[in-house]
Amino acid sequence: MPANHLDVDFVRQCFPTFAEPLAAKTAFFENAGGSYVAGDVIDRLMHFYRVNKVQPYGESEILRVAGEQMDAGRQSMADLLGVPVGNVTLGASTTQNFNTLAHACAPLLNSDSEVIVTGQDHEANIGAWERLCQRTGATLVTWPIEPDTCELALSTFKALLNRNTALVAMTHSSNIIGSVNPVSEVIELARANNTRVVVDGVSFAPHQWPDIPALKPDAYGFSSYKTYATHMGVMYVADDFLSELEPQCHYFNIGYPQKTLDTTGPDHAAIAALAGVGDYFSRSHQHHFGDSKASLYEKAQHVSSLMHAHETILCDQLLDGIRDLPIRILGRTQSEGREANVALTSQKHSSAKLSKALAEKDIAAGHGDFYALRLLESAGIKNTEDGVLRISMSHYNTSDDVQRVVDVLRAIH
Ligand SMILES: Cc1ncc(COP(=O)(O)O)c(C=O)c1O
Repeated sequence: MPANHLDVDFVRQCFPTFAEPLAAKTAFFENAGGSYVAGDVIDRLMHFYRVNKVQPYGESEILRVAGEQMDAGRQSMADLLGVPVGNVTLGASTTQNFNTLAHACAPLLNSDSEVIVTGQDHEANIGAWERLCQRTGATLVTWPIEPDTCELALSTFKALLNRNTALVAMTHSSNIIGSVNPVSEVIELARANNTRVVVDGVSFAPHQWPDIPALKPDAYGFSSYKTYATHMGVMYVADDFLSELEPQCHYFNIGYPQKTLDTTGPDHAAIAALAGVGDYFSRSHQHHFGDSKASLYEKAQHVSSLMHAHETILCDQLLDGIRDLPIRILGRTQSEGREANVALTSQKHSSAKLSKALAEKDIAAGHGDFYALRLLESAGIKNTEDGVLRISMSHYNTSDDVQRVVDVLRAIH
C-alpha cells in the first residue's frame, strides 16, 4: 500500500546527524543556509576519501574506480533531474556557476540588449548579470516586487518584456519571500520572444525537487549542500543554449558539454558523493512506495511530493501559531503557493533578539539579509544588517520542532 504521508521517523534515521547529541537537542531551522547531509551521501564521501582519494581515471584499478565513482555521482544527479549528463555542470557553488554562465553569455549581448533581473533574487542571480551588462553595454532592467505582497507580478513582467530582451534571470522561489514564482509562464512568454530564461532554484529545490523536463528552462541552478548533499552548485543548461555560449573551460576541453562551463574542477569526492542523493531518494521511495521499476527522476518526484506535503503542514502550523502576534510575515501568511521558508520582523524586538531567544531554547534560526539585500531594501526593511528572522524548514523537521518556535515567539510578544 503506497504511503500517503511522509514517515518522518524513517527520514530522521536516514540523517546520522540526528544521532549526535547537538543535533538531537536542536530544532534546526537554518535549512535555507544549508541542510543536514543524508547518510547515503556521507557514506559515499567517506568511501572515496578512505578507499581511493586519488587523481581519478587511468589504467590502475585505484584510479579507475575513483573515476567510476565520480561518473556515478554525475550520472545520478542527471538521472534525478531527468536530463542528459552532458547538460549538467557541477561547480563549487551556484554563485560561481551563475557567474561563469554570465561570462559565457557575453557574445549574446550588445548595446541594444536588455537583461531582466528581479527585485526578489539572491545577489548570486543579480550581480553576475549586472556585471555582464556593464561589460557589454547592455541594459539591466529590474522586475520589481509588488510593494504590498513582495511578490513578482506576471503583468509587470509582460510590460517589461520587449524585442530587445535577451535574457531573464529569476528565482523559482526567493530565500526570503518563499512564494513559488510563475516560472512556467515566464518561460513560455520568453520562448515566444526568443529570450533565454535562467532560473535560480536554490531556494526551491530543497522543498520541491525541480521538474526540469516539465519546466524546460534554458538554465536552472541549485546548490546540493541545501539538498542533503555535499557543497556544490548543480546547473542544467539546455543544448541549444549551451551551443550559443562562449566556453569557459580549458581550450582542450571544448567539445565535452559538461566541461563547457566548468571553471573549477571541484572536489572529486564531493562529486562522487552526489550519488548518495540518488541512493537516499531510492531508499525513501522503497520505504514509502515499495519495490518499483520507476526511474530515479520519477522516484525523486514521488518522494518530493510527500516531503512537500509534510512541510506544508508544518508551514501552516507555524503561520497559524504566530499570525496574530505583532510581527510582519514577509510574503504569504498561509502555506498555499509558498515554501516552508518564512521570514519575519517583529514590532517589539530586533531580529537579532528573536534569533537569540530561539537559540536559548536550542532552536537554530538565523537573522540578517541572507544576501538578498536589494529585496530587503525594497521591502522597506531599514536595518538590513539586523534584517529578518528566517525560519526555514526541511522535510526532516517535526511538528514538535515547530511548536517550540511558536512557543518562544508567543512568549516574548
Ligand atoms: C536563493 C539563493 N540563490 C543563490 C544562492 C547562492 O548559492 P551558493 O551558496 O551555492 O553560491 C543562495 C545561497 O544561499 C540562495 O539562497
